[in-house]
Amino acid sequence: MSATSLMQRPEQAPPKRVLVRLAARGDVQAINDIYNHYVPDSTCTYQEEPEPMALRQQWFANHGHEHPVTVAQLDGRVVGWASLSPYHPRSAYRHTVENSVYIHPDYHRRGIGSLLLADLIARAREIGHRAIIAAIDSEQGPSLALHAKHGFKETGHLTQVGFKCGRWLDVIYMELLLTSS
Ligand SMILES: CC(C)(COP(=O)(O)OP(=O)(O)OC[C@H]1O[C@@H](n2cnc3c(N)ncnc32)[C@H](O)[C@@H]1OP(=O)(O)O)[C@@H](O)C(=O)NCCC(=O)NCCS
Repeated sequence: MSATSLMQRPEQAPPKRVLVRLAARGDVQAINDIYNHYVPDSTCTYQEEPEPMALRQQWFANHGHEHPVTVAQLDGRVVGWASLSPYHPRSAYRHTVENSVYIHPDYHRRGIGSLLLADLIARAREIGHRAIIAAIDSEQGPSLALHAKHGFKETGHLTQVGFKCGRWLDVIYMELLLTSS
């Protein structure tokens, strides 16, 4: 499943090799640093205080085979990550997962988010999950577009359920069904 891909954006010269692979314990600091960059000022996460490393390590340990965490590596550096997490603790939701994708701010718009999400969807299919849910703040145009590009459909809009950066925030639910039957 791990994929090495050549990015094909013409504006990136020369193209560099990005490796998408399962995350290892040694990646957890980079994962947390990328995530925490967005915590204070971005509505892409509704978390308002930095994630402590101890909790991130626990989060990583809780992600077993059915809930993979992946990283994108460029020139030996982790520049983005993605994950599948349980959508809801009630047992009947067990075939549904929620996804996350975070790219280091210096590496946006190079196709890395797309690589990570495509890989994550392939993994979800292989594992046998039925549906992937993305809960996305309505201001997050790049994330909405990324998920739409990969086949996610808008299935819900929650009005003013978050308050961050001094304003009320809406959440859009997008869903990708992994089977047509
Ligand atoms: C959303 C995010 C993951 C996109 O990653 P990225 O590597 O920059 O995206 P890519 O270069 O792979 O772009 C893939 C698609 O995403 C969409 N996209 C990405 N950035 C965009 C932007 N600034 N404006 C509009 N669409 C954008 C486009 O559909 C793009 O496809 P295209 O190039 O054919 O138009 C990245 O902006 C990010 O980490 N944002 C902060 C965290 C976040 O919002 N994560 C999602 C929450 S789960």
